[in-house]
Amino acid sequence: MLAICPGSFDPVTHGHLDVIERAAALFDEVIVAVGRNSAKNYLFTLDERLDLMREVTGEWPNVSVEALDGLLADFARAKGAGVLVKGLRFASDFDFELQMAHINAVVGSVETVMLPASSQWATLSSTMIREVASYGGDVAAFVPDVVARQIRRKAKGMEHADG
Ligand code: PNS
Repeated sequence: MLAICPGSFDPVTHGHLDVIERAAALFDEVIVAVGRNSAKNYLFTLDERLDLMREVTGEWPNVSVEALDGLLADFARAKGAGVLVKGLRFASDFDFELQMAHINAVVGSVETVMLPASSQWATLSSTMIREVASYGGDVAAFVPDVVARQIRRKAKGMEHADG
C-alpha cells in the first residue's frame, strides 16, 4: 500500500524523520508531500524544503518526495494512495488531526493513520526550532546535520527587530 506523509517540514526534524522511517517500514511505498500551510511564515522556500527532504530521506529506497500543491485529499487520490500518516505528540495535535482526518476521509476517501511520536522527539516542533534559530541558538540536536548547516546560513542573514 502507498502512504503519504504530508507536512510543511520547515525545517524537517528528527521527529519528522522518525515518523517517515516508521511509515516506510509499515507501508510498501511512502511519498513525503511537502506542502504550504497558508497560516505559516516560512524559514525555507518550498524548493529548499524539497531539496533538504530529498537529501535526508535519500537512504530509504521506498521513500520519495514531492511538492503538495492544492488539497491533500486530491493529491492522495491522484497518486492512488490509500492512507495518510501523521505523527501525534500532544492531545492538541489529536484534536486538529481528528478534524483533518474526517475531512480527508469524506473529501478524498483516504484513511489517516496516526503514529505516536517517539518519546525522544515527543515535544519537538519546527516552530520552536525556527524561534531558537531566529535568535542564533543552536538547534543541531534536533535536526539532521545538513539542515543545521542550512539554518546557520539562514540565521546569519536574519536580524531580530526589538519592536
Ligand atoms: O506542517 P503542517 O502545518 O502540519 O503541514 C500542513 C499541510 C501542508 C500538510 C496541510 O496544511 C495541508 O494538508 N495542506 C493542503 C490543503 C489541505 O488539504 N488541507 C487540509 C484539509 S482542511
